[in-house]
Amino acid sequence: MDEKIFRDFVIIKAVEDGVNVIGLTRGTDTRFHHSEKLDAGEVMIAQFTEHTSAIKIRGNAKIYSPYGEVESSSKKGQAEK
Ligand code: TRP
Repeated sequence: MDEKIFRDFVIIKAVEDGVNVIGLTRGTDTRFHHSEKLDAGEVMIAQFTEHTSAIKIRGNAKIYSPYGEVESSSKKGQAEK
C-alpha cells in the first residue's frame, strides 16, 4: 500500500448540523464500520488506514485534502437552490 495515502489527512468541516462522516472498510467486503456525526462548524481530521479505504460524507460539508477542496451538499440544500 502506498505510504502517502496513509499519511495524507482529509479535513471535513460541517457547514450544517448533522453531517455524517462514514468510514468504509478496506478489503473484499466494503461496508460501513464507523459513523461520526458533526454539527455546524465542527471539524474532523481523518486518515485512510489499514481499516478504512473510503469515506462517505452525508450533508453539507467542506472537504479539504491534498487532492483539492470539494463541498458536499445535502438534498435539502439542493432543493433550496
Ligand atoms: N478505526 C478507524 C481506522 O483506523 C478510524 C478511522 C480512520 C475512521 N479514518 C476514518 C473512521 C475515517 C471514519 C472515517 O480506520
